Amino acid sequence: MKALGVFPRERAVRVVEHDPPRIGSATDVRLGVLEVGVCGTDREICRFEFGAPPAGSEHLVLGHECLAEVLEVGPAVTQLAPGDLVVPAVRRPCPHDRCAPCRAGRQDLCITGEFTEHGIKDLHGFLAEEVVEDVHYLHRVAPALRDVAVLVEPLTIAEKALAQVREVRERTGRGGRTAVVVGAGPVGILGALVLALAGFDTHVWSLEPESCPQAALLATAGVRYASAAGETLADVGARLGNVDVLYEATGAPQVIFQALAALGHNGVLVLTGLPGGKRSLEIDAATMMRTLVLRNQIVLGTINAAGDAFEAGIRDLAAFESRWPGVTRALVTGRFPLDAHGDLLVGPARGIKNVIAMR
Ligand code: BGC
Repeated sequence: MKALGVFPRERAVRVVEHDPPRIGSATDVRLGVLEVGVCGTDREICRFEFGAPPAGSEHLVLGHECLAEVLEVGPAVTQLAPGDLVVPAVRRPCPHDRCAPCRAGRQDLCITGEFTEHGIKDLHGFLAEEVVEDVHYLHRVAPALRDVAVLVEPLTIAEKALAQVREVRERTGRGGRTAVVVGAGPVGILGALVLALAGFDTHVWSLEPESCPQAALLATAGVRYASAAGETLADVGARLGNVDVLYEATGAPQVIFQALAALGHNGVLVLTGLPGGKRSLEIDAATMMRTLVLRNQIVLGTINAAGDAFEAGIRDLAAFESRWPGVTRALVTGRFPLDAHGDLLVGPARGIKNVIAMR
């Protein structure tokens, strides 16, 4: 069967042939991969800036945003049957007893760093015709979500973040409901939809002009868009009064300081981006520290995602569709065959969310 391999040592990305995987344990499920989303992490892996092949392999099979169909189940699997649609989770726990989060199924909070991630770190990914996965890491989706369920994995970023924001906002009796999302890529748009669904007055600020398709898409969900061409982030903050949640979805390190300057009293700055490499900046650390203290602010870094975030993502995807019909479909701007991988993964970024359709 075909799979997409990234060879860091050779600095090459190409289609490889693998033997089709077989069910090895009673709780395994054999899956036919339907769609795999392409994200910034995949593009970084294809620039050899990130990612690691499994031990003993020269290549890493790419792909972690996946929708698949159940083809065959192991003898102990009762909760899934052939034909069911599923989204696999990406991260697997580390093996260490001392890691309480991993032992409790919260590998998103792993303390040893020895977790593994499909298609990213030490485990082959889902950009293959078939994969075998343990049933405990599979999340069933309704057939009605067939066209959009490839968005579940990136949506878990926002689900985990919202759960964390809710917890930290308990300390001030919850606070106001003004949210600003920085960045109008898929992570930003999905973050804005989750915040809007949760009742936040949600705004997105990004580099694209006011006339961009992202702005029109967000407007259908009542989310207002402000372009960096017309307003600074600090202007947006001043205009809105008190920004309670600032959701960073760019991965651009300089944004943190602009975001802190726009964040209100008792505000939470949520960081979801993962910048590559190193970048030094000169900052006025005294003002920053003073503002953090005087305004009771929190800076919250968050990485997705355990099982409950996948379940929340599946629920919210259905909720988006019923509240704002078509909004999530409009996010998937292109579906391409595996052969188009070069263009999608190493060519210039285009569209909002591009997907590789495997069948
Ligand atoms: C994935 C996460 C992963 C992170 C870092 C993201 O693109 O969605 O599951 O933890 O990359 O590897």
